[in-house]
Amino acid sequence: MTPTAKRSSHRTIIKATPTVRRPSCTGSLRQVGIVGLGACLPQRVVTNAELERMVKTSDAWIRSRTGIRERRLIEPGQATSDLAAPAALEAIKAAGLRPDEIELIVTGTTTPDTLCPSASCVIQDKVGAKRAGCFDVNAACAGFVYALSAAQGLVASGQYQNALVIGADVLSTIIDWTDRSTCVLFGDGAGAAVIAPVGRGGILASYLGTDGSGACHLQVPAGGSRIPASKHSVEQKQHFLKMNGSEVFKFAVRVMGEAAIVVLDRAGLKPEDVDLFIPHQANIRIIQAAMERLHLPIEKVYLNVEKYGNMSAASTIVALYEAAKAGRIKRGDIVVLVAFGAGLVWGATVIEW
Ligand code: ACO
Repeated sequence: MTPTAKRSSHRTIIKATPTVRRPSCTGSLRQVGIVGLGACLPQRVVTNAELERMVKTSDAWIRSRTGIRERRLIEPGQATSDLAAPAALEAIKAAGLRPDEIELIVTGTTTPDTLCPSASCVIQDKVGAKRAGCFDVNAACAGFVYALSAAQGLVASGQYQNALVIGADVLSTIIDWTDRSTCVLFGDGAGAAVIAPVGRGGILASYLGTDGSGACHLQVPAGGSRIPASKHSVEQKQHFLKMNGSEVFKFAVRVMGEAAIVVLDRAGLKPEDVDLFIPHQANIRIIQAAMERLHLPIEKVYLNVEKYGNMSAASTIVALYEAAKAGRIKRGDIVVLVAFGAGLVWGATVIEW
């Protein structure tokens, strides 16, 4: 199952990336910040004990190797927009806007309701954002960070007055529930943020990176144009997520720390300036190793991997939503989001709250 043919040429990719200081995102552009947040999680809680009854695994293995105790899963028949729309409505309300005032919707997702049209179109209709232009970003678990960066540029340039940015995934629909090496890791969820011009602070810098040579380590082989759906592709389970866990693990530890350093440098900041670090919640061991590389204490990290597992594109935005709700972020705080995912991709954002 695991692709092994390709040597990982992505090892040095970040080092090869110029780390020269860029003009901050604000530059001559408008400053853009988050003005409303929302989230929606499925009701159904699935514990490790339940997974023990489905595959040959144990609560002890899952907790010690990943830090996950339980995850939320949608019911059969539900889809990404069923979580994304309520999250979006909460964020729009928190921003003090009406849905028909939203001008742009960008959704980071790997599991849109349909391959075509985009999830953003479906969400637009559900929330009544009639004036919004809509598109999706497929950057796997880094989907929210990528979507935020794209939307921020469009609002900062003055082309749009605001944007609804969503991170939403229901990876349970593309997981092989007989494969213990993947099925214990993931959960479903959605988060949303409304961004708009702000008087001070906001998004200070973003950094997106990709190493397509690592695509083989994390992919859904069929269902695209290379292997269209067929009886054979279904029988071969090629519509499920395939992962080379140890390669992804090594990649993730390296890029989380390095991407944080690059994006902080772009904002003219250092790791010690960070008040709250919000990493992609894939595995507690990846987060701990990345924090060690950054010499940041774990107290500066928001963690919810234990409750939700890896929610892919929803991971960082749901964590940001929860941290803000819990009072972990004060006005003026420096917050860093960092994510990685299939691509292989990575992305980071610095926000002054
Ligand atoms: N229960 C019990 N045993 C298991 C399980 C399980 N659920 N899964 C694997 N094992 C076994 C393996 O078969 C292996 O057994 P073997 O030694 O007899 O072959 C053993 O446990 C050790 O497996 P490893 O792969 O070495 O375990 P590791 O410590 O690397 O942890 C894990 C595996 C958790 C998958 C880790 O590699 C990881 O977290 N990788 C990154 C995954 C990730 O972050 N993915 C992000 C996806 S992002 C996106 O874009 C979708």
